[in-house]
Amino acid sequence: MQTLRLLRIALWLAAAAAAIAYVALALRGDPPPRQPSAGTDAGAIGGPFTLTDQRGATFTEKDVAGRPHAVFFGFTHCPDVCPTTLFGLTQLMQALGPDADRLKVLFVTVDPERDTAEALTTYMSSFDPRIVALTGDGAAIDRMVRNYKAYYRKVPSGESYTMDHTAVVFLMGADGRFVITLDQHEPVETQLAKLRRLVKTP
Ligand code: NI
Repeated sequence: MQTLRLLRIALWLAAAAAAIAYVALALRGDPPPRQPSAGTDAGAIGGPFTLTDQRGATFTEKDVAGRPHAVFFGFTHCPDVCPTTLFGLTQLMQALGPDADRLKVLFVTVDPERDTAEALTTYMSSFDPRIVALTGDGAAIDRMVRNYKAYYRKVPSGESYTMDHTAVVFLMGADGRFVITLDQHEPVETQLAKLRRLVKTP
């Protein structure tokens, strides 16, 4: 009788240990998402989109087909990352010289509620006029954000709101495939070298 009870306790303890191990494994969950970089998930970033440019014209992936392009998600009310990045891109385009004409730079708003085509026109007058600013309906923007493995989040701020968003610029080849990201924290020479490689690639 004593042996049987001991055996039952041992079995119960083994089952409990297995359950704890299982829960611990489950809690570890998925690894955090990686920043995209060349070689990882390459073909998976990008894809078709249909948006409206700052002049009110329809703009799709076909308008950048066969051209290297840079895609950046942001919003005009951004206090910091967006103006810094757009100013940085403006300077990089100047540094590229005539090669910059081969490059299409797209600024895609994640705040279509406030960023109408007119609002984008006003905002973009501070930056290189070749940069195309895009807006559209929320669903179309969400689809593009998803396809680029980017993110954004609306954050209440006082009586208004701000947006958290992906800060990197996605550099896409002429074939529409993701090449590498550009990060404003990198030295300017590094960013320029990446862009030069991008525009030189046939
Ligand atoms: Ni921003």
